[in-house]
Amino acid sequence: MVEASSAHEARREPDRIGGTPLRPVRIGIGDRSVRLWLKLEAGNPYGSVKARTARALLASLEASGRLVPGRRVVESTSGNLGLALAGLCAARGYRCTLVVESGTPRTSVDRMAAYGAEVITVPEVTGGRTIEARLAVVAEILAQDATAVWTNQYANPANPGVHESETAPELAGAAPEGGWDAVAVAVSTGGTLAGISRYFRRHLPATRIIAVDAVGSAALDGVAADRPFKLAGFGSGRRSAFVERHHWDHVTRLRDADAAEACTRIRDRTGISLGGSAGAVVLASVLRAVSDPAARELVCVCPDSAEKYARLHSGDFAGDGRPAEAVTEALALLDLARPDETRPRERARA
Ligand SMILES: Cc1ncc(COP(=O)(O)O)c(C=O)c1O
Repeated sequence: MVEASSAHEARREPDRIGGTPLRPVRIGIGDRSVRLWLKLEAGNPYGSVKARTARALLASLEASGRLVPGRRVVESTSGNLGLALAGLCAARGYRCTLVVESGTPRTSVDRMAAYGAEVITVPEVTGGRTIEARLAVVAEILAQDATAVWTNQYANPANPGVHESETAPELAGAAPEGGWDAVAVAVSTGGTLAGISRYFRRHLPATRIIAVDAVGSAALDGVAADRPFKLAGFGSGRRSAFVERHHWDHVTRLRDADAAEACTRIRDRTGISLGGSAGAVVLASVLRAVSDPAARELVCVCPDSAEKYARLHSGDFAGDGRPAEAVTEALALLDLARPDETRPRERARA
């Protein structure tokens, strides 16, 4: 994890983005042994999958000539993209303004500010409309400041593009003998899902694609609604233009409380730290493995770790009611999860 612990560090471009670890975890379903392979994107600079996206978004604007040193990068973010943009902008000499919401983790906001970014916080709006409030602030800034450039993670083709050209081939290159039965991806803008799906549809069409969304999110084909315990970066109040129905075979919609509970169980059984959307991805993979008797090897794209989320393991999601029966069963299977000693193919070769 890169922190803005010194001005020198804040100005340095990270040596490497991507090439994150893959950690197998084993669960038993009846007499079947299933492996969940956790792709730990927290291993990226700035602690999340969004380091990949941020670098690609900036590169697209640089290539078009719209972004040159001295200009101001503007973006709406729930936290992870903003943190990565703040770090990269500091390294490249761009000013940076990030529009976040009240639920954005304090740690993320503090780190953005430490990288020298200006952070504007928008209060939560009912009915899942906070994203519109964030985008209205971005529009205002663009109207007032001719030097401002919007990276636009919601429509910029570089967002899905980097996951198609880099994230997906990394997953494919590490597949066990016989390939992946399924890949599970959490959605917010849907860039990770769209890019991975495009690559897998072309090169590994037998792999089922599981899109993992939040109850109360409209990122896929759901309806935006209030989410009392909204996990940052998981789900969205609207669907991005590059998200298409054929990108997924199955959609699993989980409550924030259930995703958080999955994180706690994985941590307790394996010692692996997962952020909320990653917990949802793992839980969705267990649900998939239960419903598909042929499933043996599933890969879970885990966007970040728990380290920024103060409340994640607090258990104070109880007011959200009880989980569905299938979710309760899947959580019980996670209670018996254990780390697997198998080394991913890519690492064995290294
Ligand atoms: C924690 C977390 N999980 C999942 C995602 C989803 O990524 P995408 O925007 O590519 O759908 C994000 C994006 O911000 C995130 O921060």
